[in-house]
Amino acid sequence: MSARQACLASDVAVGQAVRVELTGERGPIPVAVVRDDDGDLHAISDLCSHGAVSLSDGEVEGYTIECWLHGSRFDLRTGAALGLPATRPVPVYPVTVDGEHVLVDVDAVHRPSEEN
Ligand code: FES
Repeated sequence: MSARQACLASDVAVGQAVRVELTGERGPIPVAVVRDDDGDLHAISDLCSHGAVSLSDGEVEGYTIECWLHGSRFDLRTGAALGLPATRPVPVYPVTVDGEHVLVDVDAVHRPSEEN
């Protein structure tokens, strides 16, 4: 499968996240499209690996997003959990920007646990 349109670039302000649901080869996948403090866009699973709540409701700081429920931070570039109570990473997905369109490939998941 290939990248799908997730949203418009203008939908995601600096330091903000937008929840979208994309259909991958294995069904619907909740994705948080996030613009970090440097203005770069990221796509990360919208399910915290600790409690399965929505990460897009969390706070963006630098290149991380904080889970609103218990405070674990995740690296937007790799999905790695940077602090307890979460210990497992979350999937991140490749993002491309085509003009105003933000494209995310949910079938090309990056799983940092495979590297750790
Ligand atoms: S639910 Fe996200 S850190 Fe607990």
